[in-house]
Amino acid sequence: MNLSKRILSKFESIMNETLMSDKLALAFSTQMIKEFESAYLYFKMAEYADFQDFEGISRYFLERAEEEMIHANKIAKFLSDRGNRIIFQDIKAPSFSADGILSLFKETLDHEILVTKLINELKDLARSENDHAADHFLNWFVEEQIEEEKSSAIVLKKAELAEGDPAAMIEFDKELGEEN
Ligand SMILES: [Fe+2]
Ligand SMILES: [Fe+2]
Repeated sequence: MNLSKRILSKFESIMNETLMSDKLALAFSTQMIKEFESAYLYFKMAEYADFQDFEGISRYFLERAEEEMIHANKIAKFLSDRGNRIIFQDIKAPSFSADGILSLFKETLDHEILVTKLINELKDLARSENDHAADHFLNWFVEEQIEEEKSSAIVLKKAELAEGDPAAMIEFDKELGEEN
């Protein structure tokens, strides 16, 4: 083997050491898609609120959509850092009941609880694959989900308090707009 081939094969073996298993890389790619689906869902909720002239609520959901895109990017970067390729899959069209403004906040909390479950399952898989780096990487998402569930529950509580009182609803909309 000549020198350049030897260097190349050494480099390839180093790269292979950092690679995630195919199973884990597929699961990470799927979670990346789930983050895009979350963004898509919040984007649709923003459109629904905007259509009803709740500009502050719409801004709140646009901000959440942007955060979900950041999550998707974080996962994409991790796959790339490990030398894995992303397995691209279809992004599902978002759906929610659209049963009034309050339903947006209820379904957001339900959605975040579901995402927490997905992150926990991904972490279980990283552990069963003995992939300490992936397991460690997911800690950020575990903590983020605590924050997402907590903030979703607080906003839902505020929306419930304002519901049925137009003046309180206008105030709530204004408050969310100022925060986001
Ligand atoms: Fe997320
Ligand atoms: Fe989220």
